[in-house]
Amino acid sequence: MATDSKTFCPQEIRKDFPILNQTIHKDRPLVYLDNGASTQRPHCVIQAMRDCYEQSYANVHRGIHYLSERSTDQYEQARRAVQQLIGAKHDHEVIFTPGTTIGINTVAQSWGRDHLQPGDEILLSIMEHHSNIVPWQQVAQATGAKVKFVDINEEGLLDLDDWNQKLTERTRLVAITMTSNVLGTRNPIEKIIDDAHSVGAKVTLDAAQHVPHETTDVVELDVDFLTFSGHKMLGPSGIGILYGKEALLESMPPFLGGGSMISEVTTEGFVVGELPAKFEAGTPPISAAIGMLAAIEYLQGVGIKNILPHEQSLVSVAEEKMKSIDGLQIYGPAPQQKAGISSFTIEGISTQDLAIFMDRRGIALRAGHHCAMPLHERLGIPNSMRASFYLYNTIEDVERFTEALEQVVNKLR
Ligand code: ALA
Repeated sequence: MATDSKTFCPQEIRKDFPILNQTIHKDRPLVYLDNGASTQRPHCVIQAMRDCYEQSYANVHRGIHYLSERSTDQYEQARRAVQQLIGAKHDHEVIFTPGTTIGINTVAQSWGRDHLQPGDEILLSIMEHHSNIVPWQQVAQATGAKVKFVDINEEGLLDLDDWNQKLTERTRLVAITMTSNVLGTRNPIEKIIDDAHSVGAKVTLDAAQHVPHETTDVVELDVDFLTFSGHKMLGPSGIGILYGKEALLESMPPFLGGGSMISEVTTEGFVVGELPAKFEAGTPPISAAIGMLAAIEYLQGVGIKNILPHEQSLVSVAEEKMKSIDGLQIYGPAPQQKAGISSFTIEGISTQDLAIFMDRRGIALRAGHHCAMPLHERLGIPNSMRASFYLYNTIEDVERFTEALEQVVNKLR
């Protein structure tokens, strides 16, 4: 496996992913460009989960028996791997959730309901995914707080004039994506956090499209909360992470009630348990955590710092070729300023038709609003096509994608 930028070799990496090594629709090599929605798993992740079920699976933190102790050790090892991945101070600041959405809902329902009141403002950006909009709208309905959106500029970058205007003493929370799942925009997170803290607001980051692609350090960022998902970083679905600063998590009530999150229950009531169990009610995603551990080790072996530059170089080549297609419009910043995501429309051709015809040629793209309807409304389009790249995509994938796109456009026109 490659370990630095000189030896980072997508062609070699690709061989570790059994699912990518297939032809579909008779004889079309599969070109998987739907990584923004979910990524694929290398053999080592599949094997780790298989080993878990074949050799060490039992419920965690419950049994005094061999399998339960083994399973608990691996589950907690996964937590420490996440701690190290994001640079958290303590392992109990890492909460396993079923995914980013539940992580954001935990902050909204637990921190939000306790801290927000009428007149308070929650500041989002117009490029948020629905999972970073709806939970805040729900908590605003419940508390009387108001949700506000910071606009984007013509390049698809956060509009800093609008940010300066809308961030005020009334802002209690900023909830923003690190990387847009549609535009690929990488937000100026350090500035956002500094500015927000200067008016006394907390910051929660949707890092679902960031942690899998770039190095992350929560202590350096001084961020209050951060969420991401396993399935977007070569891990299994059904697991995500909520990071929170210890003092904040300590001060918050549990989000969900059930087993594990208590230290005592009587017929009169319950006593809340310690972190991180306090936010992990019920049987947690055990095998998924073990898969996640293998995914993190794989990504670290490849070198996380190599991933974004690789994706940017693929998007650069792809967009250069795409631009020659009549009526094709790309949304978002230039390739070197964004993540490995390219969203576009083609005049006179529906995204649905395009996606179907591209699929017949072996190319997996996403068509639709990508769970970002307010952003599409702002862009003045109902939906878009999205090609999203990852570490195993190659220049050959880009060539197949752009050739197929030209053919499909010619056919549909
Ligand atoms: N958030 C995922 C996407 O962008 C589902 O496709």
